[in-house]
Amino acid sequence: MALPPLQIAIVGLGNVGTGVAKILMEHPDRIRQRSGRMVEIRKAVVRDLQKPRDITLPPGVLTNDMESVINDPNIQVAVELMGGIHPAREVMLRLLEAGKDIVTANKALLCEHGDEIFECARRHGRTVCFEAAVAGGIPIIAAVGQSMAANQILGIQAILNGTTNYILTEMLLRGQSYEEALQGAQDLGYAEADPTLDVNGTDAAQKLGILAQLSFGCKVKATDFHVSGIDKLERTDIQYAKELGYTIKLLARVRLVNGQLELSVRPTLVRQDRPLAQIHGPFNAILLDGDVVGTVWYSGRGAGQLPTASAVTADIIDLAIGRAQLTFACLDLWRETPPFELVPPNDTTSRYFLRLTVEDRPNVMAEVTGVLGRHGISLATVIQPEAPEVDASSTAVPRVPLIIMTHRTSTGNLAAAERELDQLAVVHSPRMVLAVAD
Ligand code: NAP
Ligand code: HSE
Repeated sequence: MALPPLQIAIVGLGNVGTGVAKILMEHPDRIRQRSGRMVEIRKAVVRDLQKPRDITLPPGVLTNDMESVINDPNIQVAVELMGGIHPAREVMLRLLEAGKDIVTANKALLCEHGDEIFECARRHGRTVCFEAAVAGGIPIIAAVGQSMAANQILGIQAILNGTTNYILTEMLLRGQSYEEALQGAQDLGYAEADPTLDVNGTDAAQKLGILAQLSFGCKVKATDFHVSGIDKLERTDIQYAKELGYTIKLLARVRLVNGQLELSVRPTLVRQDRPLAQIHGPFNAILLDGDVVGTVWYSGRGAGQLPTASAVTADIIDLAIGRAQLTFACLDLWRETPPFELVPPNDTTSRYFLRLTVEDRPNVMAEVTGVLGRHGISLATVIQPEAPEVDASSTAVPRVPLIIMTHRTSTGNLAAAERELDQLAVVHSPRMVLAVAD
């Protein structure tokens, strides 16, 4: 006997919500075949009913009344695509309490309040699916949560933010300014409603927090580890990195080091011949290192309407056929006692790229390298581009960039050296410090 249709509500009909509605409405036969039943959109909740939409829904579906979803017993699944933490948190808890299963792409909410939401879901016998919350269309939650189940994950290296990868690509390959490229990412629907979260590294850190939770059973918030974004980068950093044979990527990393977890999200120099350096535009890539399988690669579109909607729709189908309920029950998420401690931030280690602005006069190099040497920082490469000719009558001391690549050192040693460099009269701003991938 055919199952009755699964009735769903899309809570948030913006970029991604519209994509989900398009897929469900344009491919009903495909969805029915794969779900074993019809999937019907009963409600789509928005803030502003007057806003022009890129989709026409059947009469009575579009609403700004959240209560009409919470109080409708026929709606079994709510697809939360509002984004942000408030009121999404309160709405999601109420939807769970009202007996709805949830599909969400909201990494900010899961990273900050995942424990509360999962506990609420379990208490009410409900399921939360979140494939689209990390890496858009790449099925990375299924990969880590199910397909790699035989492994202890040892490390993850990833590009997890499409907006910043698009910006870096446009700046490197098409000579766009940072502002032009950011505007492009917003126009193409890659950026968050508040793009600061993309460019300052928070979005990638929230996604890394979710992957760390799944891989290591360890609750980490974006504020628990070193996070920096691409918002302070200058085009000159991209050019010097290129001259040295590197590409700059916003790299999210977590690895097990002597039984402790080392996490970071930061702009990182990646050697041009490495696969991560070939990931361009809104694409994401994730390298998973498992103790049994070895290294596994995932790559694809990490942001954008249809790639993200593809992952959301797969979760709806999983709920329709009952697979997601089994998976969710087996996931050991947000448990009380984390099995791994985090490495203290000052003890994490890396190689570094330093761009200093120094006065072009005798002994400057010795002063700078002296500071680094006193903090046990060994140098791998030093470049001081020739200073432009200056007017002989000028009394101003010309300033030049000084590019230094270090060998591996600790964040603590580097921070101490930076503080001392800032005290030198010959060192001026701007100063840029970037990690270098192994
Ligand atoms: P969006 O375009 O800003 O859409 C948000 C939608 O939610 C809009 O329809 C908005 O209504 C509605 N909404 C917001 N606050 C509301 C409230 N208080 N009550 C009722 N409706 C409300 O966002 P998006 O880009 O689709 O992103 C949605 C979620 O997916 C976010 O969590 C985001 O992080 C995640 N995500 C996005 C992408 C991507 O590529 N964009 C990829 C992966 C994950 P109005 O239309 O009336 O303003
Ligand atoms: N703003 C996010 C990004 C959307 O650019 O990656 C996908 O999560």
